[in-house]
Amino acid sequence: MTQQPRVTRRRALRIGGVGLVAAGAGAAGWWRFGPESVLDARSGAAAVEPPVLRSESGVLAVRLEAARGDRQVAGRSVTALGYNDGLPGPTLRVRPGDTLRIELVNGLDEPTNLHVHGLHVSPEGNGDNVFVAVQPGESFDYEHRLPDDHPPGVFWYHPHHHGNVADQVFGGLYGAIVVEDPETPGAATVEVARERVLVVSDISLDESGALKDPSMPDKMMGREGELVLVNGQVAPVLEARPGERERWRVVNACVSRYLALDLGAQQVDLVARDLGPLEPPAAGGALVLAPGNRADIVLTTVSGTTTVRADPVDRGESEMGGMGGMMGGGASSSSGAVDLLRLEVAGTEVPAGAPLPARRAARDLRGREPARRRELVFQTGMGMGGMSFTFGGQEFDPDRTDQEVEVGAVEDWTIRNDSSMDHPFHLHVWPMQVLDAGEGLVDAPVWRDVVNVPARGAVTVRVAFDQPGRTVYHCHILDHEDDGMMGVVRVG
Ligand code: C2O
Ligand code: CU
Repeated sequence: MTQQPRVTRRRALRIGGVGLVAAGAGAAGWWRFGPESVLDARSGAAAVEPPVLRSESGVLAVRLEAARGDRQVAGRSVTALGYNDGLPGPTLRVRPGDTLRIELVNGLDEPTNLHVHGLHVSPEGNGDNVFVAVQPGESFDYEHRLPDDHPPGVFWYHPHHHGNVADQVFGGLYGAIVVEDPETPGAATVEVARERVLVVSDISLDESGALKDPSMPDKMMGREGELVLVNGQVAPVLEARPGERERWRVVNACVSRYLALDLGAQQVDLVARDLGPLEPPAAGGALVLAPGNRADIVLTTVSGTTTVRADPVDRGESEMGGMGGMMGGGASSSSGAVDLLRLEVAGTEVPAGAPLPARRAARDLRGREPARRRELVFQTGMGMGGMSFTFGGQEFDPDRTDQEVEVGAVEDWTIRNDSSMDHPFHLHVWPMQVLDAGEGLVDAPVWRDVVNVPARGAVTVRVAFDQPGRTVYHCHILDHEDDGMMGVVRVG
């Protein structure tokens, strides 16, 4: 049992603000007054960040233990999962060319493993190998060698054992990986007053502070937690002085929730998504992060208090959700805006920093002739056993190879979505250059490792399969991945 904190006046005073967060999460009624409940989450606390582990002399060796235990969530002690007793786990900071060694210890009562999402490393052997299963009580030594020209950016780690992924991520198993900007002589770096790592996740807890299981329709649509957390907190407060330049590394670690980031009046200068380099923000473009996506933001603070929000995103409906009456309740996408954090900018203005350096040119495959074109199709269906989630009608089979690619080939993949809900497509290990996001050709080099494929839409990407290995691509709504919306690619 978790210890119940006593009700204090201070806490009672905060509850009004908390109610707003709850309503925003579309989950009115989850919180209660009184010492019996842990659900009166506290918002408005000073922001905290996970511990940072940094590489030295080209190596970062860490031990990550996945386990269930007492965690601080939303300012309360609850029982959840986590790495090294934290939610999120520690932030790993490495540089291009580094070796990242991770000893994963499985303290859970079911199998797990560890995926380094977005890193351009080998998927073989003890690399980023999702076919590995680490049994309860066992451990596994991963080793990732980042190429010298690895793109900078914010990446993340999470479990990838097929069938357990959504539950384990929802329970609290995730952490950030930052690949720092290369320090080549003469290359300018972005000077900032501070950097913040903001891992956004969602979770549902019952009144005793235990994890709450999603309903069947929730899983079909892709579960969205009742609490949206930033580094395990509800709407924490960040402080800065006006004119300070900050770098924010935002990770969408939610199982299914899309985040349309709204930074209010803050001045956003540069944004990278998933992997670098940093580019000026697209005019008027909303910063929508599908599950698995990240945003790497450089901003200059503007006086006043800004509530940074995630606006609702319509991601369609599941066929099952549409039959809500029949199936006893429909699932739907995020229904309201959620407050992510509060940024309080006050004090004396800081003199303007050095101008932002020239940005690195992005790699561009548009001049290349693809060796082959493929089409992959996201499909959902209704059958006797319920709803099915597949690529082209075939459920994931780890022993079947769905796509055979020649090493060194550049290929164009069109991912079509035949269903009535959006699915975010993630390819492991090889980043994708988006050629057509469904609205015609993209006229700049745009790189992603998760790309949203809208309901009834299609997206075309170009991929340079520059290293051998066998791994997976899948829908990053992790409930769908666990249900079979995943395929195997072998490059050799
Ligand atoms: Cu972030 Cu295959 O996953
Ligand atoms: Cu999906």
